[in-house]
Formats: sequence, structure tokens, C-alpha cells
Amino acid sequence: MKTITVTAKSGKSRLLINEKLKNLHKYCNIDETIIIMDKNIARLYGNSFNDFKTIIIDGSEKNKNIETVVNIYKKLLEFSCDRHSFIVGIGGGVVTDITGFVSSTFLRGIRYAFVPTTLLSQVDAAVGGKNGVNFMEIKNIIGTFSQPDFVIIDTDVLKTLDKKEFISGIGEIIKCSIISGGEFFDLLVNNLHNVISEFGKNLLPENALAWNKEGNLLSYFIEESLKIKADIVEKDEKEEGLRKVLNFGHTLAHAIEIAENIPHGAAVIKGIKFSCDFSTKEGFLDIEENKKITSLLEFTGVSLSLGIKTEQDKIKETLAHDKKKKGDTIDFIFIKNIGDIFISNIKIEKVMEAIDDMCINR
Ligand code: GLY
Repeated sequence: MKTITVTAKSGKSRLLINEKLKNLHKYCNIDETIIIMDKNIARLYGNSFNDFKTIIIDGSEKNKNIETVVNIYKKLLEFSCDRHSFIVGIGGGVVTDITGFVSSTFLRGIRYAFVPTTLLSQVDAAVGGKNGVNFMEIKNIIGTFSQPDFVIIDTDVLKTLDKKEFISGIGEIIKCSIISGGEFFDLLVNNLHNVISEFGKNLLPENALAWNKEGNLLSYFIEESLKIKADIVEKDEKEEGLRKVLNFGHTLAHAIEIAENIPHGAAVIKGIKFSCDFSTKEGFLDIEENKKITSLLEFTGVSLSLGIKTEQDKIKETLAHDKKKKGDTIDFIFIKNIGDIFISNIKIEKVMEAIDDMCINR
């Protein structure tokens, strides 16, 4: 097991890479702990947690709202939860976001932890202290910054993911490798296709996630991604500046996710392609570097095009209402080189024009 400690202003968080879900009881007192668990996780692993007080929720995006939060508050009162209580969220990003939000607001905040069970939540959502829910169809518009005490990252639980969900997590790993550059990017260039094809072939065998002689290559990808995220979050937890680089590819991805109804990470893959092409169009990113990134993105099998005209119009319409815009401008994350990302405040109109241009040129 490897531990990365995130020391942020709101608190410390230990990321326990390659710890096992079944060892959760070692980290918390059963009598004081309440588990909030996704219903699919309850079906697969619920029996291991019969001794705990448990709240089962449907961890789909449509339930990431205040109603779900209120229902959990009610259950916490039924369980006579107090300031000594400890909450653990087990599930994908929706479950960990809701758990973090509930825990950091109930009784003005009680201690909590996560066991993320999707690749996307292991490399991104469950780490970094952003917790929130959607409101009036705006994603994560109500939330808190607060760090979980610990996050157990168990790659064994990924064996039951479907491939689309797996690829979605790969999108965030690719993003981190581009932010980092250097060896991490090269490692992905040389190994990502194996990791992806191995997953497709061996969904369930015991060694499905152990690919190379050093052990589990996927957990190494996760570890490297988390190091990058932890370093950025320590410097700028509340996203006042630097943390915005973690939104590389996301300005368009959020709009694509809604317009095309595809998993978050798949939209991030398309969004990264757009950011690279926009950067090349603006003269920041050399065509050869752009090609290197594009080849890596192509390993995922996600179509990199922005769809047909109606989808592009929906992307533009959603972008026009982006919660991160300031007046008629938005912070766009450009790339100069692999490992060299920068933020520039530009007119939204310019992004719209780039969408039009790129759709014609593809
Ligand atoms: N998902 C981006 C961040 O946590 O800042």
C-alpha cells in the first residue's frame, strides 16, 4: 500500500492506494460509523458491512440533489448521529460528493472518509475536497470544500465496472499525464493501449488488473495522477488560480456531457482534443505535440469529433450558461506543450467561433 497525504487548508487527507475495501473496519469504530453506500455496491459487498449502520442510496446523477441530502439528514437523526459519528461514503463520484456534502454540513461538520468504487472517482471526484450537489439543473452549484480523513483506493473493486465507466476514468488519467508531462505522459503513450485492451478481455479474472512485472500498472497510473492532483490542491484548495489547470479539457467537456449524454470522462477526452486544437489554432501548441496527444486520446476509442450540427448548437447553448463564466468571458485552459498548461480569460464568443471553425475543418 502507498499513502499520499494531502495537506490542504481545510484539513489533511490520506490517500491509501492499494488498500482494500474489506479492511475499512481497521480505520473506523463500527459503533460510531455510518456508511452511505450505492445500491449496486450494497448488492456486491453489502454483506461485509452488516455490523455497520448503513444508508443505501441510488448513486445516479439524477439523485445528486438536495432531496437526497435531506433524506440522509433524516436518517442520521434517526441513527442519533452526534459529533463523534463518522461517515463513510462507498460508491462512485455521486455517492462521495453527496457524502462529503452531508458530512461537512450536518452538525456543522463531522468527520468522514470515502471508498470510491469507480476509476473516475478514484482519480478525481473523491480526492481534493470538492463536495457538492446539483441544483436547478446546474452541476455542483451547492457545495463545500472539506477534506475526507482518508480515501481507500482499491483497484480490485474496478473489476465489475463496465468498459465505458472504465474509459471515463482513463480520461482524467490522460488529463493528469498531459498536465504533468515527462515520464508519466510517456508511460501512458507506451502502455495505455495494453491497459485498456486487457480490461476489455479480462473483466473478472483475479489478475485482470495486474499487468506488468512491477505489479499493478493501473494503480501506478492512479498514484501518479493523485500525486499531481494532491500537489495542486495543497497549493490552491479553493481554486483561486492554479487549481483551474485541473479543468483542462473541462470547459467544453461539461457542455458535451450534457449535449451528448455521455460519461464525464469521455466528454473530457473530447474536451481535451478541443483544447489542443484551439491551442494550435491560437499558435500556442505545435502540430507535432498536438498529434502526440491526439494519438494517446485515440487509444480510448472515444470519438474525438464534436458531433453533428444540432449537438454543436447544444454544446454552444450550454456553454453560454456555464456557471464559471464571468460576464461574457470565461477562464479557458490552453496548452503550450505537454506539461505546460496555462489559463487565459477570453471572450466566450471566441470559444464559440473555435467550435464552428474546428467542426468545419474536421
Ligand atoms: N475535478 C477538478 C478538481 O477537483 O479541481
